[in-house]
Amino acid sequence: MVRAFRTIVAVVAPLFVLAFLLSHATRHRGEGVPQPQPDAEPQPQPQTDDIVLTEQTKGLSTTGTTNVDVLPPSHLLTIDDDGQPVIDQTAYRVIHSNSTASGDYFTIFLGGSIGYNPTIIPHPTKFDAWIVLVQKVTSKAPEDYSSQLMCSAGFMNDVLNCMAEPTALSLEASKGSCEEDLAHYNFEHGPRDARVFYGPVAPYILYGSHSAYTCLGMWLQDFRMLVDDYRIEAVLAKDFTKPTELQRPPPFKGVEKNFFVFWDAAGEIYVHSDLVPKRVFAKLALDGSIGPDLAPLAAGTDDRCLARYMPAAVLDKAAIQQSTNSLAITLCRRADPKCKPTDQNTFVLTLFHYKTAFDGHSIYEPYVMLFQQSAPFAVHAISTKPLWISGRSKFSKFSGNVNWNDRDDLPENHSEMFFVRSLTWRAHGQKYHGYLDDILFLAFGIEESRSGAIDVVASDLLQDLGACADIK
Ligand SMILES: *[C@@H]1O[C@H](CO)[C@@H](O)[C@H](O)[C@H]1NC(C)=O
Ligand SMILES: *[C@@H]1O[C@H](CO)[C@@H](O)[C@H](O)[C@H]1NC(C)=O
Repeated sequence: MVRAFRTIVAVVAPLFVLAFLLSHATRHRGEGVPQPQPDAEPQPQPQTDDIVLTEQTKGLSTTGTTNVDVLPPSHLLTIDDDGQPVIDQTAYRVIHSNSTASGDYFTIFLGGSIGYNPTIIPHPTKFDAWIVLVQKVTSKAPEDYSSQLMCSAGFMNDVLNCMAEPTALSLEASKGSCEEDLAHYNFEHGPRDARVFYGPVAPYILYGSHSAYTCLGMWLQDFRMLVDDYRIEAVLAKDFTKPTELQRPPPFKGVEKNFFVFWDAAGEIYVHSDLVPKRVFAKLALDGSIGPDLAPLAAGTDDRCLARYMPAAVLDKAAIQQSTNSLAITLCRRADPKCKPTDQNTFVLTLFHYKTAFDGHSIYEPYVMLFQQSAPFAVHAISTKPLWISGRSKFSKFSGNVNWNDRDDLPENHSEMFFVRSLTWRAHGQKYHGYLDDILFLAFGIEESRSGAIDVVASDLLQDLGACADIK
């Protein structure tokens, strides 16, 4: 019975994808299908950021609107007789690779190193190579500090392989002044959670490190200053040539993370620091200082749209977090001669996560968000269901989580933790802006221990968007 169902799905799913590609409508109004709610008791996980989790959950519940139409998927999977997950297509949008033989995601091979939460950008001079940066898996030893490993990588047999052993990226350290509950961070040295991405002109690195304003903050630097492959281009770097801490509209949280920057149609840079309980974003100056919070100017439509489409945090231990960097996308096809970017059809694209933590195991579900690329930067549309990356499996010993290596009490029927870290156009030379028929890399960490990515046609990510304009 289950096998028959899978066969039907295998036959029908590609037809849906095909029908979509042929229709190429630019906006998609999804129907929110209520999903079964998780029923297990939430368990705090020692290694995750529960502080942020609780703050955000409280904030969400004070928005006053209960979202009954867009419920997130349960954290429990249905597993078939072969031990494979049966993906509920009413709860997820399955996305497939544009290049691998199986359609599944590809792994990133780091030689003798172990790293997770990768980001990928096209190599500046080698057209069959990409630069990969990952967070190193540290040993439990106190002197093993957080670091980012980097390599140039190329494809072979549907694996993105580092061409040489990854090396540590050297980033300037900042000094800690964390207090009380966060004081342990003073002894946790090294940059963390780095993302590398292209803006309209330059590649940047954005990472977490000790802050001058709070405990941990976010720092931005022109990536060309740091990497030998950009030696020739580095002379062109003008902005953020030194690591620059990004400020935010007050108040600072003790630990700031997951900021993203975006550029407007005129090429000006902004920093988006929060999504929930409400958006917070501001114009960014080159010294890291900011203008006023601009979110109130968009709140008129944003409040209704976020209340309608953000997955409701149905449980205490659920949170919404900003996930990736941003890109700009024009909602028509590059191949179409009539397709010209305008303020009406071009939006900032970013992903956010709906996070749960049950039985000591966090799971992140990625959703897409589009907002205007010019003032007031109002939200345009939000996924009505999260993306399921083809190849994601159930959580097991084979998932390779180094924190569960020596344990036999893995939670049953959980899916693997895929943490989507970055969005990049796959093509060399393509920086910030693209079209529906361009190919994107989504790069993600698997179980805080491995690295993978999937290349997808951009329009595949936008199939289940709920448009803010459609709210009555
Ligand atoms: C896991 O799934 C199997 C079959 O789908 C079911 O029999 C079992 O009760 C589930 N376990 C939990 C803890 O939900
Ligand atoms: C890969 O992407 C190209 C360009 O958008 C598209 O024409 C082609 O159908 C895609 N192939 C697959 C297998 O997704």
